[in-house]
Amino acid sequence: MDSLIERLQWSSEIINPEAKQKVARQIAQKVKDGDILGVGSGSTVYMALLAIAERLKTEKLNIKAIPTSLEISMFCSKLGIPLTSLYEHTPTWLFDGADEVDPNNWLIKGRGGAMFKEKLLISVSPVSYIIVDDSKMVNQLCTHFPVPVEVFPQALVSVGQKLEELGATSIVLRPAKGKDGPIITENNNLVLDCHFDNVSKTLERDIKSITGVIESGLFIGYPVEIIKA
Ligand code: 5RP
Repeated sequence: MDSLIERLQWSSEIINPEAKQKVARQIAQKVKDGDILGVGSGSTVYMALLAIAERLKTEKLNIKAIPTSLEISMFCSKLGIPLTSLYEHTPTWLFDGADEVDPNNWLIKGRGGAMFKEKLLISVSPVSYIIVDDSKMVNQLCTHFPVPVEVFPQALVSVGQKLEELGATSIVLRPAKGKDGPIITENNNLVLDCHFDNVSKTLERDIKSITGVIESGLFIGYPVEIIKA
């Protein structure tokens, strides 16, 4: 019988699966023998992993993955993609999804709450591909998605006040899926989803400078290459 990890299924509904499939295949084609892949989170990344696993069935590619979430690390194991970590390796390149991309290639990420590790990996990866379908392209950030901010729990109130001072017009403590209470990140923190009418060039840095903020899902000025279906 298959092991528990082999029976793991993706439980969320995948929006725009055909477009995601297209960019997933493009990512899989970029994989070369010896690559250390930084692997982001989300359903587009999941589909790219499936496409990479298809190649591994017929080609001898010695690759390793550095995952950005527990969920993605379990999928890599299920698909037979060996894992490593930032202790042992630096990514050769990285792929990740995004919730919004503006004309400057500034991003909002973190609908899955994994933005801390996603940003850590993007900051050390020499090349980062962001794979998105057309629905993610916006003229201005915060069109469809708020900026998620991961907060140390005891700092919730003080951070909320400071975010309002920075111009957040709506702040929501992200609820847990399917149960009462807030969502808890893999780092045991909370997430505040903040709407800003105007996302300025300094907003990412300003948010990060608040004591009690672990990380935000705002990615401003990173050298990313957008792969769009
Ligand atoms: C998770 C993320 C994801 O990359 C982002 O939410 C996009 O997800 P999907 O590919 O499912 O649309 O930032 O923290």
